[in-house]
Amino acid sequence: MNENPYHDIAATSIYPKLARATLYKLHSNLLEMLGKALDRSKQNNLLVVGPGAEVLPFSEELSWVYENLNGGNLILLDYNKEIIKKAQDYLYGKEFHSPLFKYVRQDGRVIDPRQAKRTIFFEARDVRERLPYKDGSLSAVDMTLSIHHATTYRQDIKKIFDDVHRVLSTGGVLHLGEGNVDMKHSEVKIRKLCRYLMAGGEDAVHITDRRAAVNGYLREFQLNKVFLEKEWNVSCKDPLPESDQRYGCMLAVDDKGMVEITGLKNPTKSAELLQLNGYKQMFATGNGIILPLIDCSIQYDFEGMIKPVLEYYDSIQKVGLSNLEPDDIVRAEFLKKLEKERSDALRGIVEYYSPPSMVKECLKESNFEIEETRCTAPHGPFVNILARKTA
Ligand SMILES: C[S@@+](CC[C@H](N)C(=O)[O-])C[C@H]1O[C@@H](n2cnc3c(N)ncnc32)[C@H](O)[C@@H]1O
Repeated sequence: MNENPYHDIAATSIYPKLARATLYKLHSNLLEMLGKALDRSKQNNLLVVGPGAEVLPFSEELSWVYENLNGGNLILLDYNKEIIKKAQDYLYGKEFHSPLFKYVRQDGRVIDPRQAKRTIFFEARDVRERLPYKDGSLSAVDMTLSIHHATTYRQDIKKIFDDVHRVLSTGGVLHLGEGNVDMKHSEVKIRKLCRYLMAGGEDAVHITDRRAAVNGYLREFQLNKVFLEKEWNVSCKDPLPESDQRYGCMLAVDDKGMVEITGLKNPTKSAELLQLNGYKQMFATGNGIILPLIDCSIQYDFEGMIKPVLEYYDSIQKVGLSNLEPDDIVRAEFLKKLEKERSDALRGIVEYYSPPSMVKECLKESNFEIEETRCTAPHGPFVNILARKTA
């Protein structure tokens, strides 16, 4: 069994140092935008989704937190138990403790933060689950660079925003820190592949996607000929309902970004069709087909995924290197970690940034009003988005 199922860089001990070198602008925008949006005459309850082990940037700004919460609570939720444990120790060392704050472990309970005062709540939980807070009980939610790991699918982003909308009070705000890049190409690509399979005679394609399968999350959905689709976002623990059983051929995406198609009516014809449409890196197994989800030799993938990903990481590299001293021993580690992220992103795994335009569309669909958008630089690698629940 894999002992560390969290593949993102935040699970490594070097993350906070690299975050300070690359995210300072995103973090200062976050404090400024959130500080401006909060009503300091009231008690404010702030939920941070995916705080990381050092709860940046909040841990460096004790007075900002104390003054803006105005007697309210800081609530930290992260799917990585180790990170939650480290965050608790780190905050303690930064003087976030008695008499200013007390600590409570939520341990899966649903809480109403309005009933508490000056408390830091810690919860190890996946944001894809229903948020464990009473409706309307939070003043603000921060999701900085966390939901781009949670799902490869637009529909799940919208689901997460719906739930954030539920737990926010009217007038409450959601801050998002995101990459200024589109890494949702892999979802588009899966649907395109399915269209070819159906053109080759399949009535339906049943998709299982294990790329973000941490905590038992397995993405399943089914497309049929008229493109009516059934979507499930189920945990492996829950069997599909009787009425929703699989049919058609199977397309499975694994956590390395490889696709295996089985159960085809006519494997030879389907393989020929894919080949005719430029799929070069393809292996026909006799009764199935194996291919990479993202194929750099296909122009469509090059334009939709490879190019934007390379540009994005070039721009992070520039920001990071300009902030690390030439003799900083972290420099080499930074380049190594960045290379790992880049190569994951190029295969359509681990990093699933939604472009800011898609994030904003989903926010509007979930009844948020966009209040402010800021890029960390013109065409900079990161973007801050602030949205408000107005009704
Ligand atoms: C890149 S770090 C960002 C940390 C911090 N917000 C910052 O701005 O420096 C991403 C954080 O999100 C958490 N995370 C990723 N996917 C998550 C999920 N599905 N549910 C809850 N937390 C998640 C990770 O464990 C990690 O702490």
